Amino acid sequence: MEFPPRPELFDFHGVSMTHYFTDTWERVQTFKARPDDILIATYPKAGTTWVSYILDLLYFGQTSPERLTSIPIYDRVPFLEFSRLPMHSGVEQAENLPISPRIIKTHLPVQFIPKSFWEQNCKIVYVARNAKDNVVSYFHFDRMLITQPDPGDWNSYLKRFMEGKVAFGSWYDHVNGWWKKKQTYSNLHYMFYEDMTEDCAKELNKLCSFLGLSPSLEEKKQIINEVQFDNMKNNNMTNYSTNPQMNFKTSPFMRKGKVGDWKNHFTVAQNEELDEDYKRKMKDPTLHFSTEICILTLVQDQ
Ligand code: A3P
Repeated sequence: MEFPPRPELFDFHGVSMTHYFTDTWERVQTFKARPDDILIATYPKAGTTWVSYILDLLYFGQTSPERLTSIPIYDRVPFLEFSRLPMHSGVEQAENLPISPRIIKTHLPVQFIPKSFWEQNCKIVYVARNAKDNVVSYFHFDRMLITQPDPGDWNSYLKRFMEGKVAFGSWYDHVNGWWKKKQTYSNLHYMFYEDMTEDCAKELNKLCSFLGLSPSLEEKKQIINEVQFDNMKNNNMTNYSTNPQMNFKTSPFMRKGKVGDWKNHFTVAQNEELDEDYKRKMKDPTLHFSTEICILTLVQDQ
């Protein structure tokens, strides 16, 4: 399959974007959300697919198990603002979803969300991931995906990430913007990738209580097993191996799935630079990210 050259980034109402996310802007903005739609919102590479699969299993795992083995996750959960015209439009895909509730994903910063989602008081699940792992994951993703701008080398990429010069703009603005929205919009569940890694069962319970679902213990166990990193990596319907735009020889979609992998990429100087930048931009003491998971070992007295 032939692909056009990599897209350029441009400033779009103050946020860096590529044409793949703005070509259907009018249709995105006038999208008619339904009250039972569920929107998954994330900065790219924060665990969108993980949470998409969890929600899909919660709603359809029991009732339509054939979906799980026949439809890739990116077709079960359309990406609202993504389009490759004339073949593909996320809006159209969402409009044509034959299921209810519709589960839809977006990477838009909060100020760009189509107004009907707010008007319909839709449930929104936001997933955030710490900046250091997020940027590493995004770098490898941009290397392997032809519809993303050329990432260049790691050092220059990290600088551009800090300046918000990557698709969907500043990570800082994204996580903060959505965090603030939580204060005024109660149908928003803000979760963290790190919490999911640490205790998926606990996060699943919180998610269920937000969604008003009460799956059986057995069902929850099945879901937790299904969505483990290795199981999703080996599952052709969740690992994106069916997506021709991705070059898995450069980097697989399901890459590491870890908290703290940033340590394998950052130099000491790069880490200090990000820490400085972080301190300047992350002023809200109520929004806290973990960049590593503490594993507590109990030392038993002899
Ligand atoms: P890494 O590149 O660090 O491995 P998104 O779905 O938003 O594009 O996010 C992709 C990132 O989430 C990748 O991170 C991917 O490996 C990770 N991921 C996906 N499913 C996961 C799972 N079940 N457990 C842990 N990490 C997962």
